[in-house]
Amino acid sequence: MTTVLKLGGSVITDKSEPETVASDQLETLIVTLATEAQTEQLVLVHGGGSFGHYHADKHEITPTDGERDAEDIFAVHDAMCRLNRHVIDICHDHGLPALPVAPLSNATRDSDGDLTIQTAVIEQLLTEGFIPVLFGDVVSQVSAGATILSGDEIVTSLASSLEADRVGLCSTEPGVYDRQQNVINKITAYEPIKDAVGSAEQTDVTGGMAMKVRSLLDLETNSHIFDSSQLADFLQGQSVGTTICTEQWLIPLQVFDIVLYVSLSERCSPSLANLTVPI
Ligand code: IPE
Repeated sequence: MTTVLKLGGSVITDKSEPETVASDQLETLIVTLATEAQTEQLVLVHGGGSFGHYHADKHEITPTDGERDAEDIFAVHDAMCRLNRHVIDICHDHGLPALPVAPLSNATRDSDGDLTIQTAVIEQLLTEGFIPVLFGDVVSQVSAGATILSGDEIVTSLASSLEADRVGLCSTEPGVYDRQQNVINKITAYEPIKDAVGSAEQTDVTGGMAMKVRSLLDLETNSHIFDSSQLADFLQGQSVGTTICTEQWLIPLQVFDIVLYVSLSERCSPSLANLTVPI
């Protein structure tokens, strides 16, 4: 079984201070990984938090606004390598065979921004029993210099290319909230929840919750957004937080003053209560 797991930058860093690791929180997560991970193959991805985002903002590099100044590009990459080193060190302290894989050296974007990650190194590390640890980074893009690559994009790309069985995003939130601030159990389509995710969260340079949901809906495997208290349950195979299912066609049915979205598929049938949208 292959699991792709992202530890969000807001979870493992203190976003109020540049380049500050949330050491206790990171250690707790890694201890959970060391004790609970039952997967044969684990790919770990981490976000940027107060490392990558701080430098990306400072140098005004975004996933679409490229940068050509090598020093500025390196400032972002180098900060992410510093954070990655903390993650790797703590993994080693707890017996996890983690090794870094830097996206800057392994991934590219074409002129439309579409991402390709070379997976040969990652696959070989997995086969040899290691845990590849990737991270949000800068990547070269055709005709744009270099742009920001989020950990979320890495997760969705690798989940497809490695045909992952389990996909998880460990964030600061227990899942995706609806407009009443309840965690939505299952999401099968973006349309019914787009207002809730769009308004409920400030979006950062890499897109926030809305972008996470949209890209995870494209996957062929279910994925989960959850917080650190649910990591052990996720690793034990449970459905935690919000489960994002492969996108389904939903039929909007208006009944008086609400719209019900009805799915034709049984695969991950939506809770109608969660998909009820007042008009
Ligand atoms: C950000 O990655 C990477 C950089 C800014 C270099 P993410 O977008 O995945 O980071 P978090 O999880 O939101 O902090």
